[in-house]
Amino acid sequence: MKIVFVNSSGQIGGAERVLLDLLASLGAAEPSWTLHLVVPSEGTLAASARTLGVGVTALAQPRSLSRLGDAGAGGPAGAEVGRLALARRMLAASMPAARHALRLRRVLKCLAPDIVHANGFKAQLLAAWSRPACVPVAWHVHDFVSSRPVASRLLRLSSRHCAVAVANSLSVAGDARRALGGRVEVRTIHNAVDIESFSPAGTAVDLDALAGLPRAEEGTVRVGLVATLARWKGHRTFLEALSLVPASARVRGYVVGGALYETDGSQHRLEELRRAAREFGVAGRVGFTGFVADAPGVFRALDVAVHASTAPEPFGLVIAEAMACGRAVVASRAGGAREIVTEGRDALAHAPGDAAELALRITELASDPGLRVSLGRRARETAVRRFDRARLAAQWTRVYRALMRGEEISKRVNGLRNKEAGALNDELEAS
Ligand code: GLC
Repeated sequence: MKIVFVNSSGQIGGAERVLLDLLASLGAAEPSWTLHLVVPSEGTLAASARTLGVGVTALAQPRSLSRLGDAGAGGPAGAEVGRLALARRMLAASMPAARHALRLRRVLKCLAPDIVHANGFKAQLLAAWSRPACVPVAWHVHDFVSSRPVASRLLRLSSRHCAVAVANSLSVAGDARRALGGRVEVRTIHNAVDIESFSPAGTAVDLDALAGLPRAEEGTVRVGLVATLARWKGHRTFLEALSLVPASARVRGYVVGGALYETDGSQHRLEELRRAAREFGVAGRVGFTGFVADAPGVFRALDVAVHASTAPEPFGLVIAEAMACGRAVVASRAGGAREIVTEGRDALAHAPGDAAELALRITELASDPGLRVSLGRRARETAVRRFDRARLAAQWTRVYRALMRGEEISKRVNGLRNKEAGALNDELEAS
């Protein structure tokens, strides 16, 4: 079996970490399969895929297409980009996008896959428009389709070129069914993580040094938000919550992560967040580390991991990662995040955007080391039981095999039709 994966970006975000886990898991379970990845640029994703023995083709994307996105145009990242501006950009990108789709079609023809697996909205559209005849395309859906004003329409229009859509949570699956108008079969495969590297045992990074802060005093409770700087990840809620935690709780906050996506208007700049920290009066109590590659080391350095998304989180990979590292987690109670945690048992939660409730949860955990330990222990148990990446290969191979069977059947049906047509022709000619 040969599967070609097409990814929207060359950088590693949540959707790409899941893709890498899937590649690792498939590589181990099906060593005879050929896995190949097409990315828009060389970079960390291409390099990580190669270390897993996956072939990589970097097919440069026109800049107008890389920058194009509707997350910040009424999507989850707010309405920073006006609809008109977006329409103008789309128009400017349409010809380069069409040319790019043609190039991708040539690459796919050359690679001759049995299946194309498209990761991310842009890749899903490009794969739908570029797929060689008779090659089924699987859409791996990581975000709420309905929250993207433009992508949702384009995906719906392109859905007849998609054989199956696989969502990362039940919440995303329900949304995709509605948004795609029931034209595509939608299944759910929850994300998973590498529970060997995301584990309580191992070294921790020095968050103070990374943030350029003096070492925190003994007994300080380290509370961190680990996320890209996408606007809906709740950085402001987190900073405000820190301002509401009493000084007696001896908490130091950390914002870990950097800007990731090239799309306009969808993310904070670090400077903007530093300003917000000053406005909330917590500048001296919070450190900004920027992106840190050693994610398990970050979680191990934290006492409490906060997930603060203000919009329903499609899945919330950081929650599963922090749980696998045995941390006490406070999650935002909406979307896929609710499918990951059992509130009060293996994590605590707060209402999305509710800084006061988040502050209460942080204060509760900061003042109760026993609670942190017991939540962390149960979190690890949950992660081992539900989020071990070995499950990914088991579930995805079922999807791929079903697609191959479906393709076989439609080929046979077409063959029969052709035969019938041929017989009819012969009859007509004879008469
Ligand atoms: C996207 C989603 C996030 C999810 C990740 C991996 O980034 O926004 O919730 O964890 O994909 O599926």
